[in-house]
Amino acid sequence: MKRTLIVLITLSLAATIACDRSPDTETAQAQAEAAEETPSVAGTEEVEFRWLPDGDAQKFKAIEDQMGGFSQSMIEVGHRYNDLHWAGVDRNWGYAQYQLEKIGDSIEAGIIRRPDRAESARPFLDATIPSLQEAIEAQDGAAFDEQFEAFTNHCNSCHVQEEVAFIYVTPPEVRLSPAGMPPTDE
Ligand code: HEC
Repeated sequence: MKRTLIVLITLSLAATIACDRSPDTETAQAQAEAAEETPSVAGTEEVEFRWLPDGDAQKFKAIEDQMGGFSQSMIEVGHRYNDLHWAGVDRNWGYAQYQLEKIGDSIEAGIIRRPDRAESARPFLDATIPSLQEAIEAQDGAAFDEQFEAFTNHCNSCHVQEEVAFIYVTPPEVRLSPAGMPPTDE
């Protein structure tokens, strides 16, 4: 509604300006108003930052700090681990594949933010995830159960290596996720 009004005002001002060729003060003022009210071309509008500091470098630094470090990935991985577990219980291979892929993506993103973690994360990404993936692709329940155990053990061995052994991963006992098995046709 407001936008329509602005467009209408802009158009009528533009028409006034077009008709009135004499550059009197009234026209100049109308022009200024029109310029003000014309929806600005993307990327050229004045931006008032809410909290970012002055200076480009300072801005990037502030954003970097807000993005968090490895624990941001791990919070996500913890959530996805739970759903991956239940997807495996349900033999919901599509969802298991989806969650496993996202776990990999999240750890990769975590390494970008905290390169020091790469050394301990690489074997998990390059060996542990692909082994579980194979079981999912083969839709092999027994292989999944076995690989999921190895997967969990590797979460914990990395926590030991990274000196956060107090974060001990165990498969969930209750379902908290709203995502479950889709209904079948019958
Ligand atoms: C690179 C080795 C590594 C691997 C592999 C790893 N973690 Fe972590 N995890 C960490 C580190 C390091 C922290 C602590 C992060 C920090 O201090 O910023 C952590 C923290 C956590 C946390 C606590 C997050 C929080 O702040 O609330 C959870 C939950 C977690 N990991 C789950 C898992 C699960 C589940 C897996 C396996 C699917 C896993 N982790 C695999 C290194 C790893």
